[in-house]
Amino acid sequence: MCGIVGYVGNKKAVDILLEGLTSLEYRGYDSSGIAVNIDGKVELFKAAGKLQNLKNIVEKNYTEISKSTIGIGHIRWATHGAPTIENAHPHSCNCGKVAVVHNGIIENFKELKEKLEKRGCTFRSQTDTETIAHLVATKFGETHDLTEAVRLATREIEGAYALCVIHQDLPHTIVATRRNAPLVVGLGDGENYVASDVPALIQYTKKAMYLEDNQIVTLTPDSIQLIDIDNKPLEQKIETLPWEPVALSKMGYKHFMLKEIHEQPDVVRNVLSGKLRAIDENVILKEVTLDRETLKNLNRIQIVACGTSLHAAMVGKYIIEDFCGISVDVEPSSEYIYRKTITDKNTLVIGVSQSGETADTITAVRQAKSKGSHILIVTNRPDSTMAREADSLIPVNAGIEVSVAATKSYMAQLISFYLLAIYMAEVKGINNLKDLKHELIILPQKIEKVLAHKEEIQKCARKFSGSKDFIFIARGINFPTALEGALKLKEISYINATGYTAGELKHGPIAMLDESMPVLSILMKGKVYDKILSNSEEAKARNARMIALTDSDDEKLNELFESIIRIPEISEILSPALAVVPLQLLAYYIAEFLGKDVDQPRNLAKSVTVE
Ligand code: F6R
Repeated sequence: MCGIVGYVGNKKAVDILLEGLTSLEYRGYDSSGIAVNIDGKVELFKAAGKLQNLKNIVEKNYTEISKSTIGIGHIRWATHGAPTIENAHPHSCNCGKVAVVHNGIIENFKELKEKLEKRGCTFRSQTDTETIAHLVATKFGETHDLTEAVRLATREIEGAYALCVIHQDLPHTIVATRRNAPLVVGLGDGENYVASDVPALIQYTKKAMYLEDNQIVTLTPDSIQLIDIDNKPLEQKIETLPWEPVALSKMGYKHFMLKEIHEQPDVVRNVLSGKLRAIDENVILKEVTLDRETLKNLNRIQIVACGTSLHAAMVGKYIIEDFCGISVDVEPSSEYIYRKTITDKNTLVIGVSQSGETADTITAVRQAKSKGSHILIVTNRPDSTMAREADSLIPVNAGIEVSVAATKSYMAQLISFYLLAIYMAEVKGINNLKDLKHELIILPQKIEKVLAHKEEIQKCARKFSGSKDFIFIARGINFPTALEGALKLKEISYINATGYTAGELKHGPIAMLDESMPVLSILMKGKVYDKILSNSEEAKARNARMIALTDSDDEKLNELFESIIRIPEISEILSPALAVVPLQLLAYYIAEFLGKDVDQPRNLAKSVTVE
């Protein structure tokens, strides 16, 4: 959701800005723009729609634009004002000397705008960001110092922001700052970078400095100065970035989503590595600091998450309750934060997030932290804002996920929950989970088998791609799998898909069934197999088009189901980690068959940094 790139050095800034924005495209956006300094004048170039539209504009003016060795760029996901050229970033002030790009939301922008208008500022857009450009310009007029102007401006701004600012009179300076929105500085040799996320930097440098809230950084080609909001100089903490550029290539796959689905066997191996070494050894989770005493005193666990991460959390609830006998509540973060929650120091609160930057989940964990709860974060980004709130951290190690639709990060979250549940059971002295550990170790081979036999899934995708609606049913531990299958399908194909517990079908949704409605039953062998079979019979009796996803080789299923996707046999308790793979592929092939923009579905963003 929105992306920022800034460069100051001796190269053609425009190339680095466009390259950086391209690598952030996956986050979801609807307009883009850059600001550069050409012959001592700040010039803005902006376009609505895809980044290619901006690239086309740049191409026409490349000789001029490429003179600049400084620049800031942005992709915008509209919040205040439609995705038009006027509302695209960068924004400028009356005199056109200041350019600003911004991620986040300025909550007091109406008050600021009124004040600035009274002082003669003329607004050209409907955005909250434009207030920052005018505010910084006003402060610069008073101080003639860009860092000081930005610092004073941030004292008046309320809300969340990552900001980059340039000024016409300073052709070798970028000032950047953040509050509740990520920003990272990349250090080069005679050049420096700033971006809202690592992919924009990684091909240029691995030396980086993460900005913390209210820190202000001033970049020139040869220097970096860091201060806090009170103008106190700060020590710089330089880190080495973990991401490899290869992670950003499609490696021959048509889409990142397909590549990421295929990475899942290795993701499972990675997550298990060093944590589950042998079935007769205890699980090692060094980052989790919950000892026997703390666990004994826990009265409940609350898990907060959104979207796909919420579905992983629902599986987590099932297995933690099953293995450890501790009561677990799972709630969408956006609901948790607006009610009175019963949370105290004896509650463990788990935040689950691929990006670690989801605004609702950050707010939820902060709220719980303020009540004294132990905060455990499960995230794919150990460098994220959420990770910094953690008392215990499980980094899920899925590698960077480019496709907006989460696949391998979901797998990594699931496996992390299995490890956590086994770990907690073992800390409590429960040691009967050897079979599950064995199954976890051989899970990657089973996923590989599913990936090697995709023909039935592709056939099914072709057959049902014309459907307007889709129902997924399951019971027990695979109910979240049904929800995740439906979410994947609607996200990337825009088919209206819903997941139900199979037992609920006859309490309402059955009214929807007729010969045009596909119903996919997740029919894994175990406690609820026969129950789902009867629910599937009920659906078939209403003429629904039946699809089975099963690990059973029962021939009788051929009569009931029009299509059958068979997967290797697996214990019911671990089956969500295998059953989700064909559903990801089904969604992928349907969307691909319909010609949809698989990796960047409309209206969606990779990390949702606004509430
Ligand atoms: C779905 C998807 C979203 C995210 C949700 C939470 O494919 O990616 O539903 O799961 O926006 O994001 P994170 O996990 O980054 O907190």
